[in-house]
Amino acid sequence: MIVAIDGPAGVGKSTVARLLAGRLKYLYLDTGALYRAVAWTVLQRGVDMADQKAVAALLPLTSLKMEFENETVVVRVNDKDVTGELRSPAVSASASVVSAIPAVRAWLLPVQRSIGERGSVVAEGRDIGTKVFPSAPVKFFLEADPTVRAERRHRELVAAGHAREIEQTSTEMAGRDSRDRSRAVAPLVPAEDAHHIDTSRLSAAEVVDLMMGIIAAKL
Ligand code: DC
Repeated sequence: MIVAIDGPAGVGKSTVARLLAGRLKYLYLDTGALYRAVAWTVLQRGVDMADQKAVAALLPLTSLKMEFENETVVVRVNDKDVTGELRSPAVSASASVVSAIPAVRAWLLPVQRSIGERGSVVAEGRDIGTKVFPSAPVKFFLEADPTVRAERRHRELVAAGHAREIEQTSTEMAGRDSRDRSRAVAPLVPAEDAHHIDTSRLSAAEVVDLMMGIIAAKL
């Protein structure tokens, strides 16, 4: 069983997907973490992100593992645990750029699908319902007001120790969004059969309750 959750940054995808996976006792597959791990590698090696061939050449030299340990997920690049470094603003901005490179998307596709084969999964990203698991029986597309999304992301960043102005978070999010929506390969678009949920005025628990209702009706 696969539950697909897509949507832009700051709609609460990660929180909701993690809670839902906990309620259903499914694995939580955060596909953004895989794109972030590629971005981390590119930054660490000092490769020019605009040079798509150079980024593609790095992929065969990279071993990327996602390990599920009880409630937590550990991401390893060439056996180094990089989990704690994946959510910095620098990695976020770079993830949005490398995720537009077709070779990166093609390389990560089998990685994501093989995790889907390990059992029942709640998978979250930008193209889960359209490309990664197009036959998932239940798909959600989350949306929220841009102001609410920027506030949420800002709170997260400040809590993680990244001091900054909300305007900066808001501008960066708008830039990532427009890149994610306008790229040629697997842009952020809702699957035709996705259930749309606007999370602007809902708590994470309320969103999960709504999803549980829809999933129960499907099973
Ligand atoms: O969900 P996130 O913010 O961790 O994702 C980081 C970046 O990775 C985001 O800008 C777009 C990209 N991404 C993608 O292109 N496809 C996915 N399935 C997941 C993330």
